[in-house]
Amino acid sequence: MFFKNDGADSPVRAQIPALPLRDIVVFPHMVSQLFVGREKSIAALDEAMSRDKEIFLVAQKNARTNDPGPDEIYDVGTVGTIVQLLRLADGTVKVLVEGRQRARAKRYLPSRNYFLVEVEPIFEEGAEGVEVEALIRSVQSTFEVYAKLNKKIQPEVVMSVQSIDDPSKLSDTIAANLPTIKLAERYELLSAMNVKVRLERLYQLMQGEIEILQVEKKIRSRVKKQMERSQKEYYLNEQMQAIQKELGGERDEFKNEIAEIEEALKKKALSAEAATKVEKELKKLRMMHPTSAEATVVRNYIDWIVSLPWGDRTAETFDLSVAEQILEEDHFGLEKCKERIVEYLAVQALTGQLRSPILCFVGPPGVGKTSIARSIARATGRKFVRLSLGGVRDEAEVRGHRRTYIGALPGKLIQSLKKAGTQNPVFLLDEIDKMSTDFRGDPASALLEVLDPEQNKAFNDHYLDLDYDLSEVMFITTANSLSGIPIPLRDRMEIIELSSYTEIEKLAIARRYLVPKTKRDCGLVDVDVDVQDDALREVIRHYTREAGVRSLERQVASLMRKLALRVVKEHGREFVRATPVGGEDASSSSGLPEAPEGDALGPDVGKARAAARLKYVIDRSEVGALLGVHKYRDVRTDDHDLVGLTHGLSVSDFGGDILDCEVTVVAGKGKLVITGLLEKGMEESAQAALSYIRARSSVLGLDADFYQAKDLHVHFPDFVRKDGPSAGVTMATSMASALTRIPVRHDIAMTGEITLRGRVMPIGGLKEKLIAAQRNRIRTVIIPRDNQKDLKEVPETVRAELRIVLVEHMDEVLREALALDDPARLFGDRMGQVVTYHDVPPEPELPSTDPPADPGERDRPTV
Ligand SMILES: Nc1ncnc2c1ncn2[C@@H]1O[C@H](COP(=O)(O)OP(=O)(O)OP(=O)(O)O)[C@@H](O)[C@H]1O
Ligand SMILES: [Mg+2]
Repeated sequence: MFFKNDGADSPVRAQIPALPLRDIVVFPHMVSQLFVGREKSIAALDEAMSRDKEIFLVAQKNARTNDPGPDEIYDVGTVGTIVQLLRLADGTVKVLVEGRQRARAKRYLPSRNYFLVEVEPIFEEGAEGVEVEALIRSVQSTFEVYAKLNKKIQPEVVMSVQSIDDPSKLSDTIAANLPTIKLAERYELLSAMNVKVRLERLYQLMQGEIEILQVEKKIRSRVKKQMERSQKEYYLNEQMQAIQKELGGERDEFKNEIAEIEEALKKKALSAEAATKVEKELKKLRMMHPTSAEATVVRNYIDWIVSLPWGDRTAETFDLSVAEQILEEDHFGLEKCKERIVEYLAVQALTGQLRSPILCFVGPPGVGKTSIARSIARATGRKFVRLSLGGVRDEAEVRGHRRTYIGALPGKLIQSLKKAGTQNPVFLLDEIDKMSTDFRGDPASALLEVLDPEQNKAFNDHYLDLDYDLSEVMFITTANSLSGIPIPLRDRMEIIELSSYTEIEKLAIARRYLVPKTKRDCGLVDVDVDVQDDALREVIRHYTREAGVRSLERQVASLMRKLALRVVKEHGREFVRATPVGGEDASSSSGLPEAPEGDALGPDVGKARAAARLKYVIDRSEVGALLGVHKYRDVRTDDHDLVGLTHGLSVSDFGGDILDCEVTVVAGKGKLVITGLLEKGMEESAQAALSYIRARSSVLGLDADFYQAKDLHVHFPDFVRKDGPSAGVTMATSMASALTRIPVRHDIAMTGEITLRGRVMPIGGLKEKLIAAQRNRIRTVIIPRDNQKDLKEVPETVRAELRIVLVEHMDEVLREALALDDPARLFGDRMGQVVTYHDVPPEPELPSTDPPADPGERDRPTV
């Protein structure tokens, strides 16, 4: 030991050179490396080396003091031994010391050039007991936690700390190895004499440090994340800039494009609202990257606005005679329709406005609704656009989707206007009755705004989101049936009905319009083709069955194509050579220009053409050869009377037609069965018909309870949808015939509804029904007397060919329709009123005693 003890009670003091330390506290049991530079200190070391290498290592209070006096040095230090001493080249000394024992400086002895101190050893206390044991454990485990957080502590140190069980040594080892605590705190640990106190303090310090370290760790990880993110952004930005630099050309192109848009804008008369909107969008666009998705969206939007017809319009013609002439040129007949159009134009010419209601053409397919609208455009010098509304279910289809949706576009209305390219086209809303409504909204509601002249000044498309003026657009709509048009829409339009064509009208249309048109289309301009009326009638009767002329046009075209083939086959060489366009395909529709003058093409060609001028006559027999076998039978009716079969008349979107009704009677229990494609209300009609027959059983010579032992089967053999309740008289006639076994006349057709007592009620669609009857070669038609007023509407040519019988009661129907040899026997003088002349009988009354047209016809055997 360094201290020599000569008495038991007073501790032995020793005089040792002292080494003041700037920023370190050396603990006992600890080896430390020190660098010594101060002269006084080096002298102290030299002195120690010359003695027994013992030195008092003590911290100075302020590390910065260069030459501290004794009062600037702490009292408590450690007496240690110099293990190694190395003099370095720069005059400083590197020394390795090992702490041995705590000691207190008692007195500084006078000495020349180093501190010589009298020190007294410190003996520790409180190193025993359970509490100390507990403290040891907690200090050890805390140190372990601390070491994990602070990476500067070597794992060997942790291991050695775990194995120390001397509390004093433990506290000193840990204190020496805590890198983060301050000098003052270290000194505190050194100077505490009580081991327990020292351990507690150590524990406290470590806990504090752990807390700080944990917070530090958290902050570190947060900072690290932030760093990563900003680094990534920085990197990507750099990369993007590099790419942009590479794509420099694209930027230029983008600028050009914007300049082009600006140029285009100057030429358009945009509304103030549209102009500000476009300006705003352009500003946005200039700041965007050209290839970004955003820029594409904005550019599309601007493109749409710019491409709309702002202020572009065609000059309208107000010359009514020219308009009339054009309408006449394009279409046959349709007088009412043409008249209305001319009126419309006249009002417009006077007022300069399109104030009158929108026209709506209603009629069966193929009667020229769409094509007359096209003619109106031609007659008024406007452009023509057509928007088919068939199958449109969604309001957004008409009005567009808001721009917030991906891939949004303007609605069909704006799209069509763009196509028209002018602000004042004729805009045909075709097939307005074929729109449907579902959960996505009602397209009709969008059209309401469009079709209302009061509202359409400011039509707002969802995509454009600005008001567009539609007031100069001339809207025309078409429909096959009124029932399909929503009522509010119907209310805003003026309905013009186009009815089916009669055979005579069809013939005229074919002769004057369809033949020349298809001939031209087939390149037969230079060939004389004479299609005889007989031939056309043959086509109408046997190859078409329709209200309009669409399939007639198709058949005539097919006739022309076949003829073209024949021409090329027979006279191919000379004919083809003679044509200026040449080519092998002289029969193609683009083959020949319209009526070219011979001399305009040079004398040789003209001569060749004259020589090649061919003449073809198509007569009735020729039609069969060209079009093949008949598609339809001439007359629908059978040529002899049958029991239980009656011809009714029906009307649908496709015009009028014959509707056969068959009834058979079998033994049974009074059941009534109805089959065939039926509309609502037909079953009730059948019940009413049966009730009438039961009420009249005695007149008809039937047992009063005939129905109890019989089943009636009513059947409609046509697979075409039939209209609602107008087949009452037909069913009743078939039933009466089937029950009495008296046949029904085959050349009669009828229409009408009946009440239980046999009164005949009026029906709709008389005109279409009579046209159909005439088309089907029916001779007599039975119609309700209440429909007499509708006869004016029926074309005269139809009326002339029909024997029309007006009836009030079912008895009159049976008397007329059943093939009886003595009708008076059954029905007395009950008889319908016959209209046989061309003119409609003046209302209210005509003598109802006209004899049957041909009395001989009545001479048939009764059953
Ligand atoms: N009165 C007529 N004069 C001349 N051609 C006609 C006449 N009526 C119809 N056509 C011709 O018949 C063809 C069919 O007409 P269009 O397409 O206009 O029928 P639509 O009434 O619109 O039928 P849908 O209801 O089926 O649309 C057209 O080629 C048209 O030129
Ligand atoms: Mg049409």
